[in-house]
Amino acid sequence: MRDWIYDLTLKPLFFKMSPEDAHSLSVGLLNLANVMPGMYEIIHKFTTYKSTRLKTEVAGIQFDHPLGMAAGFDKSGDLYPFLKRLGFSHVEIGTVTGQEQEGNPKPRIFRYEKEEALVNRMGFNNPGAEKVAQKISKQKKSIVRGINAGKTKVVLPENAVEDYVKTFRLLSPYGDYGVINISSPNTPGLRGFQEKDSFLELIGGIKKEFNGSFPLPMFVKLAPDLEESALLELLDLVLDIGLSGVILTNTTINKTVLPYFDNVETGGISGRVLREKSTRMVQVAYQKLGSRLPIIGVGGIMDGPSALEKILAGAELIQIYTGYIYRGPFLPYTILEYIDNFLKKEGVSSVREIVGKGVEFRS
Ligand SMILES: Cc1cc2nc3c(=O)[nH]c(=O)nc-3n(C[C@H](O)[C@H](O)[C@H](O)COP(=O)(O)O)c2cc1C
Repeated sequence: MRDWIYDLTLKPLFFKMSPEDAHSLSVGLLNLANVMPGMYEIIHKFTTYKSTRLKTEVAGIQFDHPLGMAAGFDKSGDLYPFLKRLGFSHVEIGTVTGQEQEGNPKPRIFRYEKEEALVNRMGFNNPGAEKVAQKISKQKKSIVRGINAGKTKVVLPENAVEDYVKTFRLLSPYGDYGVINISSPNTPGLRGFQEKDSFLELIGGIKKEFNGSFPLPMFVKLAPDLEESALLELLDLVLDIGLSGVILTNTTINKTVLPYFDNVETGGISGRVLREKSTRMVQVAYQKLGSRLPIIGVGGIMDGPSALEKILAGAELIQIYTGYIYRGPFLPYTILEYIDNFLKKEGVSSVREIVGKGVEFRS
């Protein structure tokens, strides 16, 4: 019901504009709402769903519920103060790189409306770790904040450790968990860190710089394009090296998820067409990890059922990005209400109890 409000009002306006202009307009509207007395209380009321059944703890961090905003929506930390009021339990800011960079030339985001997909080749546009630190150090801490770090484009792979370390040194004081992003397809060579030796060199190198223990509970974000055998091999390393969990998944570069794949822009594909691929990754990872390490599930969550599916497949936390663009600001409420109703129906008192229980609940 709530989703219709977006479909009939803001969505037609946003979708007439380029995706980046629409994003800027939405930021403008959020700032406007901020100076209108009482406006945020109203927005908060309609977008925020609360239930004690949804409270959870992951990597020693308390979350009001499992749903967060995925990386890329708030690249420089500006939107963190607003996202609390829009019904999210956590926000992953970034990807932030050691140095400021502009990213790729525009246009660099493309909509595929019929499939509710986006293709992006942003290329980590962000103001760099120093400026982001200055900004977020002044913000009042509210919901859980993740710090997602990546490599500056001009930094050579052999100097990547230093670049990630710079970001974590500057931003860790303001974060609750960290993410080593090695899966964005738009920084040449980044996905190469998903190969065993490079992975160990990078992650081990970062850990060493912090005297053998990460400055925050640290997650690694992986691509949906990994072979299952490669994923399983990486998970062994993840367990050995002391990471706190994995984020599955980033965008895919496999254009065949779209029907007209020979005519698709270059970049990472997200949205509804990614759902199956990323859920499968969560399922495979959960079969290996069980409750040893948490999984954050992201990719193609567009509604309640696709969100629940990720949790049943093994995700302790879930995140959205593209679904928010297509379905609008009431999506967090819709998703959380759906999951809570499911818990009620099944007589379950905590969302943690259904993580990875897909088979049981389907039978
Ligand atoms: C425009 C755009 C920019 C993104 N930027 C980042 C980023 O900077 N870092 C990152 O780790 N993921 C980034 N992502 C990937 C998302 O965090 C998420 O993993 C992916 O889009 C799948 O989720 P979705 O289908 O809900 O969008 C971006 C996605 C989009 C659509």
